[in-house]
Amino acid sequence: DRAGLLKAREALGIGAGASVGGSALALVPTMGALHEGHRSLIRLARQRAAHVAVSVFVNPLQFGPNEDFSRYPRTFDADLEVCAAEGVDLVFAPSVEDMYLPDRQVGVSAGRMGSIVEGEFRPGHLDGMLTVVLKLFNLVQPDVAVFGQKDAQQLAMIRRMVADLNLPVSVVGAPTVREPDGLALSSRNRYLSPEDRVAALALSRALHAGAGQRTPAEIRRDALAVLAAEPSLAVDYLVLVDPATFTEVGDGHTGEAVLAVAARVGSTRLIDNVTLTLH
Ligand code: PAJ
Repeated sequence: DRAGLLKAREALGIGAGASVGGSALALVPTMGALHEGHRSLIRLARQRAAHVAVSVFVNPLQFGPNEDFSRYPRTFDADLEVCAAEGVDLVFAPSVEDMYLPDRQVGVSAGRMGSIVEGEFRPGHLDGMLTVVLKLFNLVQPDVAVFGQKDAQQLAMIRRMVADLNLPVSVVGAPTVREPDGLALSSRNRYLSPEDRVAALALSRALHAGAGQRTPAEIRRDALAVLAAEPSLAVDYLVLVDPATFTEVGDGHTGEAVLAVAARVGSTRLIDNVTLTLH
């Protein structure tokens, strides 16, 4: 409960004013099944704050009725070992009943940005994600929170929520960690058969092909060509968007843009993205 968490904060010496001369507490929210991507977030958190908390919670609110909530990997003992090895000070792993009152009513709305790109294919996902992230911020009260660029729209939405709701948290984005062959690390990669895994490589290959081009039209064309050449991929979207708003960029766009892709391989849905600079 909240009192217990605040006591745990106190035991770490993180009282009011503890952030004088640097941030006191950084939070790394996760759904567990921790991998090297999560570990890189924990290490970045350690650079930003004296203490690091990791939350492990598979949030039912951000899964659709036909999504993988019940079969999402749960590896709590191994997660605790990872956290111990990384010197994490506090692991917060509430149950669903701890987090959600049976008669709960109020949640965060992701607004229009919650219904485009990922939001178009996963209705309600970004609302449920923001709701749990706000609850985690309120419970743990971190000064800093670290999120991966791997989930680029999630990161952009969290920055939007912090700005729109005046949350007293600094959001830090962390680069995507990949396998040597380019596949972005994901807890869902463990669902992939060896054949699926080969097909999944087309995502990072497509982003790489797009990134080699100059104009938005050429970028989209070359990335789509790579995706089309992999018959066992079912593509949900390939978009070139503004990193902050996730609206599609036009041909005159200069500055940063995110090339983002989502595709299904068998019953596993994968996402990936890369940030480009257009001149
Ligand atoms: P989860 O998928 O467990 O991811 C936790 C954090 O790890 C997210 O910030 C995600 O972007 C980051 N991450 C995942 N794969 C990564 C990789 N290959 N490289 C770098 N970072 C990576 O994202 C969630 O959980 C949930 O939506 C959550 C924010 C915890 C809210 O429920």
